[in-house]
Amino acid sequence: MEIFNNIQSARKHFRTLDGVSVGFIPTMGALHAGHLSLVRRAAAENDIVAASIFINPAQFNDANDFENYPRKFDTDISLLEAFEVDVLLTPEVEDMFPDKYNYQVSENKESKILEGLYRPRHFDGVLTVVLKLLNIVHPGKAYFGEKDWQQLKLIQGMAKALFLDTEIIACPTIREKDGLAMSSRNILLDKDELKRAAKFHQILSEKTTPEAKTTTLEKAGFKVDYIEEREGRILGAVRLGKVRLIDNEQIWENQKSNTNL
Ligand code: PAF
Repeated sequence: MEIFNNIQSARKHFRTLDGVSVGFIPTMGALHAGHLSLVRRAAAENDIVAASIFINPAQFNDANDFENYPRKFDTDISLLEAFEVDVLLTPEVEDMFPDKYNYQVSENKESKILEGLYRPRHFDGVLTVVLKLLNIVHPGKAYFGEKDWQQLKLIQGMAKALFLDTEIIACPTIREKDGLAMSSRNILLDKDELKRAAKFHQILSEKTTPEAKTTTLEKAGFKVDYIEEREGRILGAVRLGKVRLIDNEQIWENQKSNTNL
């Protein structure tokens, strides 16, 4: 695996790959089976696989969350090497934001609801960094998990709105045996919380109203930020101790709504 810390060297490298299809997986590290399923899919569909590890400060609206975000660089490198990733990009914050984050991508509708209400400007940070990464790598396809449903839809929306050449591929959420969606932040749950966390997906998937789910979740010890139904999909965010969990599940086929989510 070739590792590029320097953005200019990475750009030069990707420019030389004429006629070679590149599948790209952007990550913030602390890799788990969900990320590795994206790597596997990218390897099956492209000539080479590129990944990035960049803990993007612009998408953390809470300084503590940024500080506590798990950092597992050495394990991540070993995993990516074991999964035969060809190129890894590990840029520095000051190199990713030579403009000091004066230039930003912002979406003015769908990024303001659900997660956007609880994490102001979070999606501006995500979209800006994803666009920068896509401009460095120029992949034919980039892979994102459905667990971050709103993020996925906004990135697909950005690719369409800005005429990006990259196809944004949605990949299914990978879950623990008990149903808990895999997430880098799960490492921050203690043993007892980890056991209780599985209830989130179980309750989210029950055939009940969002209001009933909220009540059941609160009884089970979760603090509920939101549980909302959009486009036949139930989306939710809860807090368990200091950890915030998000998840979603399709509940109906072909439901109409007035948002793209
Ligand atoms: O989903 C993530 O890990 C991040 O939001 C992403 C897409 C890598 C952008 O920083």
